[in-house]
Amino acid sequence: MTQDRVLIFDTTLRDGEQSPGATMNHAEKLELAEMRDDMGVDIIEAGFPIASEGDFNAVREVAKRSKNSVICGLARANMKDIDRCAEAVQHAAQPRIHTFIGTSPLHRAIPNLNKNEMADRIYETVTHARNLCDNVQWSPMDATRTEYEYLCRVIEIAIKAGASTINIPDTVGYTAPRESAELIAKLIKDIPGAADVIFATHCHNDLGMATANSLAAVGAGARQIECTINGLGERAGNTALEEVVMAMKVRNDIMPYETRIDSTKIMAISRRVETVSGFAVQFNKAIVGKNAFAHESGIHQDGMLKNAETFEIMRPEDVGLSETNLVMGKHSGRAALRSKLADLGIELADNQLNDVFVRFKNLADRKKEVFDDDLIALVRADAADDQSDHISLKSLQVVCGTEGPQEATLKLIIDGETHAITATGDGPVDATFNAVNKLFPHTARLQLYQVNAVTEGTDAQATVSVRMEEDGKIATGQSADTDTVVASAKAYINALNRLLVRREKSSPGEDIKSVSYKDAG
Ligand code: KIV
Ligand code: ZN
Repeated sequence: MTQDRVLIFDTTLRDGEQSPGATMNHAEKLELAEMRDDMGVDIIEAGFPIASEGDFNAVREVAKRSKNSVICGLARANMKDIDRCAEAVQHAAQPRIHTFIGTSPLHRAIPNLNKNEMADRIYETVTHARNLCDNVQWSPMDATRTEYEYLCRVIEIAIKAGASTINIPDTVGYTAPRESAELIAKLIKDIPGAADVIFATHCHNDLGMATANSLAAVGAGARQIECTINGLGERAGNTALEEVVMAMKVRNDIMPYETRIDSTKIMAISRRVETVSGFAVQFNKAIVGKNAFAHESGIHQDGMLKNAETFEIMRPEDVGLSETNLVMGKHSGRAALRSKLADLGIELADNQLNDVFVRFKNLADRKKEVFDDDLIALVRADAADDQSDHISLKSLQVVCGTEGPQEATLKLIIDGETHAITATGDGPVDATFNAVNKLFPHTARLQLYQVNAVTEGTDAQATVSVRMEEDGKIATGQSADTDTVVASAKAYINALNRLLVRREKSSPGEDIKSVSYKDAG
């Protein structure tokens, strides 16, 4: 039996990147786009070209490089946005313009358009997009809170104007699965011309129902799911790609739909997104969480040894998890490291491998056994360090213990020059951050400081995430080390470096977070 195809539309680089602090740099965006192209994503939404020069360049470069995927850019319902978007995607083998406007009463009030004026705007802008690109997607933002009659009216207009994909966003994650199914089924039945277009579902996860809502919409006739890796996205995030793909695969008996996704590439891309976004995947996250395939209890372990199917509905290798946790040590060579990383789905260029190898040897000197998770943390820490950084750590000594004050003596290299200082604080980490602040005064505010042990044992590496905010711009820094205070210092410096890049790159009004969705005119 041939199965219905469901298109996977990945918006990690657009909706995912809108999540505060998840900013990715140009090279990271290109790398992630290539991984998606490779894993079988049908449509990649690569950014919002009018939002900034950086977004425009990323969309244009992704468009030029894509081999298999349709490359899409986002544009509000105005000619300037659409022109810029068309310019960015024009070199793609398969370009798409995705234009949208908020259609619910709350959203209509913002640009102050009445229903008729908005309908006219939709016809004009979709027609304009269609004149520039054969493949146009249109979205009524906040569709699930738009009056049904009006929603039908504007969708019909967009189809008449030439949109070939109609996306139904549940922008605020308000819908429940039954409503999601009913809405899609009804729209397809009621709207003239609906049979000639693809209906897409775009769900946010505010009530934890994004995956269920997307699958319900597919059951009712939607044939495109909009999603992000790890469910990254504003607030509680978007539908997680790995969840909908694996749900349709594992429960194909009741959801007989196929995708083009090579599920064995899921883990590698999930880890990469985790690293570059700085958003750690929760341990018990479905499919990609560290514990998703771990069986701790005696009963489970016993059952697993006798027959894996007792407690496992999918195999770890189906999502690209290598079965073994082969331990590496200080005698392991470069080739063993390369092959181990490849098992983990991590391919590195020769120069990156060299850097990681140096870090690995260093770690193996301090730690008897180096586990998979240690290697992943090493690769992440290496990726976080950038040669072009303004600030780097030269050395750090701390005095801590029950008798205060705790003290940090720090040397930083700032724009090529070494600076040293000693500072005190409430604990060694506080003293260290105070020392950084004295050597490099700034106005950024620490929003999050988080430490995790990578493996078990007192010699475990600590991974540290630091999120900082300055003038509405947010950057996340990460690092790993067997010394928690060193990892903290590096993560803090990493976040500062990232903020500096954002400071340099975005002039006022150009940042994606400051492009207002209301400015449709
Ligand atoms: O959630 C939403 O409504 C969106 C639109 C821009 C499609 O992301
Ligand atoms: Zn969205």
